[in-house]
Amino acid sequence: MSKLDELMARGTALLGSDYAILCGAMSWVSERHLVSAISNAGGFGVIACGAMTPELLDAEIAATKVLATRNFGVNLITMHPQLFDLIAVCAKHGVTHVVLAGGVPPKGSLEAIKASGAKVICFAPTLALAKKLVRSGVDALVIEGMEAGGHIGPVATSVLAQEILPSLADEVPIFVAGGIGRGEAIAAYLEMGASGVQLGTRFVCATESIAHPAFKKAFIRAAARDAIASVQIDARLPVIPVRALRNAGTEAFTDKQREVANKLDAGDIDMNAAQLEIEHYWAGALRRAVIDGDVENGSLMAGQSVGMVTQEESVSDIVAALVQQAEAALRARG
Ligand SMILES: Cc1cc2nc3c(=O)[nH]c(=O)nc-3n(C[C@H](O)[C@H](O)[C@H](O)COP(=O)(O)O)c2cc1C
Repeated sequence: MSKLDELMARGTALLGSDYAILCGAMSWVSERHLVSAISNAGGFGVIACGAMTPELLDAEIAATKVLATRNFGVNLITMHPQLFDLIAVCAKHGVTHVVLAGGVPPKGSLEAIKASGAKVICFAPTLALAKKLVRSGVDALVIEGMEAGGHIGPVATSVLAQEILPSLADEVPIFVAGGIGRGEAIAAYLEMGASGVQLGTRFVCATESIAHPAFKKAFIRAAARDAIASVQIDARLPVIPVRALRNAGTEAFTDKQREVANKLDAGDIDMNAAQLEIEHYWAGALRRAVIDGDVENGSLMAGQSVGMVTQEESVSDIVAALVQQAEAALRARG
């Protein structure tokens, strides 16, 4: 067994994959083709349910099962109004792993997933919440730093890893996400106690990814500093920052916040509706860029590791490069 296999052993045992490398769910991008390609290449693909209805998720899982020869997971957002119906769809298909994103899992959701026989993986934004999730019986955690693409927390990956791995890495497998573009970083987090890693940005330009050619081109051109976090213009609005490549859509989001804040002031909507409107805005803007290729006005969600995306290449080549870099780094350290 290689050193890398040894360090990833708990992660691969949990996932049933060759490598403890998850491709994090990315709305519109992580559908049947990318997900099956990642799992078939020995990593672990995760379908992004996002705002899908139970019927759409049902169809996506069925189609992925046709293409995938290995396990894959489904990412569900905790605030989805039909969360329990979505869990039932996963159970019907015998989905082996459910990833819960977007906040504290609602009462009964962990139990419902576990009752189906699936493993539950949750995002943990702080040590206190991570401990609580472990006590609640989650099978694994993802800790994601603010270098990541998409919705982000306020803390850097390197700090989260230092805060959470020493306390909890012995209790459950922990996957580190955010800002990982090369295998040397994978080796470093594994040596700190992680059981694996989750990458998103690095896989967007895979040949198997259905992202529009213009979306991929924007990634290939971009440098780390182009992937900026959105700015909150009104302290009252519960806006979760989003990291994306700077474009005209970046300014449009400022206008959108103003529009929602005005509606809030006028009493036309309450705070929940305001947050939902913001989230719908993101889902629509991301679709416009990923599917329609409108890279000016759509949202180009990307992490800082985008600077390490330099060409379109197959998923198996990306996974092989990451593994080779991680193995070389570990060998060099003796
Ligand atoms: C375009 C894009 C869309 C994303 N959509 C989601 C999502 O729908 N749900 C989710 O939990 N995470 C989402 N993420 C986060 C990824 O799953 C992953 O955790 C993140 O990309 C890891 O950081 P990295 O981008 O630095 O590799 C998204 C990321 C990107 C780049």
